[in-house]
Amino acid sequence: MRSASSQPLSGIFEVPGDKSLSHRALILGALAEGETVIAGLLESADVLATAEALRAFGIRVERFGPGRWRVIGGPWRSPEQPVDCGNSGTAVRLLMGAAGGRGVRATFAGDASLSKRPMRRVTGPLEAMGVRISGGDRLPLTVEGPVTRGIAHLNVPASAQVKSAVLLAGLGTDQPVEIAEPMPSRDHSEIMLGEFGVEVERSGPLIRLGTKRTLDARLVEVSGDPSSAAFALGAAAIVPGSEVTAKNVLLNPHRSGFVMALQRMGADLAMANIRGRGGETIGDVRVRFGPLFGAEFTPEEIPSMVDEIPILAVVAAGARGETRIEGLDELRHKESDRLALMVEGLTACGIHARSEGDALVVQGGQIAGGATVRTEGDHRIAMSHLVLGLAAEQPIMVDEAEMIATSFPTFREAMRGIGAKIDEVAA
Ligand code: S3P
Repeated sequence: MRSASSQPLSGIFEVPGDKSLSHRALILGALAEGETVIAGLLESADVLATAEALRAFGIRVERFGPGRWRVIGGPWRSPEQPVDCGNSGTAVRLLMGAAGGRGVRATFAGDASLSKRPMRRVTGPLEAMGVRISGGDRLPLTVEGPVTRGIAHLNVPASAQVKSAVLLAGLGTDQPVEIAEPMPSRDHSEIMLGEFGVEVERSGPLIRLGTKRTLDARLVEVSGDPSSAAFALGAAAIVPGSEVTAKNVLLNPHRSGFVMALQRMGADLAMANIRGRGGETIGDVRVRFGPLFGAEFTPEEIPSMVDEIPILAVVAAGARGETRIEGLDELRHKESDRLALMVEGLTACGIHARSEGDALVVQGGQIAGGATVRTEGDHRIAMSHLVLGLAAEQPIMVDEAEMIATSFPTFREAMRGIGAKIDEVAA
């Protein structure tokens, strides 16, 4: 795909359903007694991998309309074939925990990128809970329940996927299950488990499962994904004359770091219609173009915008002065080494960017563009550079755009809907 300097962006941006909530809605539905109905499910490759995996565990998962799905929870069986989680870290890590808790045996596999990502962070605590693991730090590996012991787990580095795996495994025991989080990570699992009737106690940095660990099926409405909305909001912030609104976006404080970052950099940003839905906070976010200034971000701020660092780096390229983002070690373990690829892509487009240890430093300035950016199949690297192209002097091309479908299959149409010039080009 290729993007080019655009007229002002304007209008309402069609935000797809949140990826984290979509995975959790399917998995919790599969663990619940009865029929769970989901509205607004993100129908992206990652989420479809979770749906397919649950079928392999013997669960009925059906689509009955756009974004409308039904999951009939019940006993899980051990799949005969390896469960393919594609590109999705959330799918594999949450499902390993759930499978352990359900006492089944499964081999998990993934694509080339997922097969390079660390899994010991999940299998370590699961093993401590009595789950049998064969394999090392990388996929493929086999998980065999049941869970025979509780755990007091320290969630370092802050990972919602690991925390969720421990909680889901913990549903399979009545022993104490406790997680301490020195740096809080997204808490959707705790919130959604609570909505499904599980007792989850939270006090400060501690999360504990209570005595009721069974789930009651329910209706789940999935709100808009702030990580996807970030591309349009970031674009509006750097394309002169723009004004864009993203509606019904999840505004959970552990996911709002990017919106806060835009504000800190001086963006003209407003939130409206703030309200609750399914235990979460949601609302509308509007961004108008205006002068932006470089800012500093500390490691404590990263978990609340961990997936938005690539687009934050793009916004920093459009700001005056230097932006410094500290504490990005975890970025090296995402769908690609995002720290390295952002430095490479921004530099190719004429921006001064460098990594210093696990910090990213971006010097805002004229965006020359006129480059083809290497994405290593990472959807967020691709989308971020396509946004950069909207504010560049020359078009920017990304080498692989198919992987955008892992999290945001409607990205191009949604961006074109606000006036962005993004085209598919023949390979
Ligand atoms: C996610 C947690 C984060 C995030 C990922 C989704 C989740 O990963 O980067 O895209 O849904 O729990 P970590 O748990 O590795 O921080």
